[in-house]
Amino acid sequence: MSIWSPTSWREKPVLQQPTYTKKDELNRVLKELENYPPLVFAGEAKRLKSQLADVVEGKAFLLQGGDCAESFSEFHADNIRDTFKALMQMAVVMTYAGGVPVVKVGRLGGQFAKPRSSDTETFDGITLNSYRGDIINGVDFTEEARVPDPERMIKAYNQAAATQNLLRAFATGGLADLHQVHKWNLDFAHKSEVSAKYEKLAQEIENSLKFMQACGITSETHRGLRETDFYTSHEALLLPYEEAFTRKDSISGDWYDTSAHMLWIGDRTRQLDGAHVECLKGVKNPIGVKAGPTMDPEDLIRLCQTLNPDNEAGRLNVIVRMGANKVGEGMPKLIRAVEKEGMKVLWSCDPMHGNTIKSSTNFKTRPVDSILTEMKQFFQVHKAEGTVGGGVHLEMTGKNVTECIGGSFTVTEEDLSSRYHTHCDPRLNADQSLELAFLIADTLKEAKK
Ligand code: PEP
Ligand code: CO
Repeated sequence: MSIWSPTSWREKPVLQQPTYTKKDELNRVLKELENYPPLVFAGEAKRLKSQLADVVEGKAFLLQGGDCAESFSEFHADNIRDTFKALMQMAVVMTYAGGVPVVKVGRLGGQFAKPRSSDTETFDGITLNSYRGDIINGVDFTEEARVPDPERMIKAYNQAAATQNLLRAFATGGLADLHQVHKWNLDFAHKSEVSAKYEKLAQEIENSLKFMQACGITSETHRGLRETDFYTSHEALLLPYEEAFTRKDSISGDWYDTSAHMLWIGDRTRQLDGAHVECLKGVKNPIGVKAGPTMDPEDLIRLCQTLNPDNEAGRLNVIVRMGANKVGEGMPKLIRAVEKEGMKVLWSCDPMHGNTIKSSTNFKTRPVDSILTEMKQFFQVHKAEGTVGGGVHLEMTGKNVTECIGGSFTVTEEDLSSRYHTHCDPRLNADQSLELAFLIADTLKEAKK
């Protein structure tokens, strides 16, 4: 058996990596990154893992959401704040209406690298390298922009550090205080039906808080009212970057990938003998693996054995992303195989990546109806199998974008062009995300009966 080390992935076949032409520059950047401070502390990743163990048992719910791809151009405090608010709104809806604590994990503060279906892209007869995310190359369709530039990793690290710093400040510095529940409603969203539903719920919470205050329970006396735990995650795709942040925890002596609390392996890079599985198998963070329609039950079992050999609850999150018309048939086989082996898995639903279509106006979009359908089916299958549908994994933003069609405050195919800002896949906007949160809350309430 070969011995794992932070560099052992280099011995394995690796997919979806850029070809850097200037090797000296690449090595200089990686050396520099190795000396940069970690972005998270091992103790935080451990705490997240223990909270995820509660999710596996159905005692909590995992809400993971954020950009498909963070970008340098959309880097702004307001964007981070609005995504944070949208996630807080969703979490409070699920906690209050659904009756379970919500573990909050952003797809933020490092979600830069993107897997692509093709290495090149052709437009108007010109073929260039595909865009692979701002940490690798630029989105503009020019030869120059598409050259992978190692220096971008430094810029991405700095942006990730500033983003995670602000998220920590929001989580503990007052914005996450439950007394702010009205303020999480986003300014533009005041007209929609779902927003009115939220206002009603926020009012009920405010009344409960007044009652609690009269009983002596306040933000000053109770940390749980004043602060929240907010974690970060991204796809561990660009392996030299992840290697630079794989550090030994001085307390336990264990290895952690300190670029985020939680990392996941994408659907295109989950080969059992591949470099991505090798890279994450030796770190102790909670990790995820995407399961698309081609995931075979036997492969999933082997992945569980490799990635979670101690069968630790909270370590492994299987993120199912089959599409509304495939999940009903594809997921039961996976669940049964896992149950038969007695493996502890946190099942979550990514209703985004199996439901991407091209609009008649030529935009990559996702119908909110398909997203809702996949979600409902995911929970129905778990109910029928007697297992726990523990979480959701969403591409969403707190901004009023027009990227997914349908939903409350209907976005039509003609609207797509008006505020289509994503650098990669279409995201749910704040209203659409909130609508989904109410649906999940109903499902959670139902499951508790
Ligand atoms: C993603 O989460 O942005 C992604 C590329 O997902 P998947 O690996 O499931 O296609
Ligand atoms: Co995506």
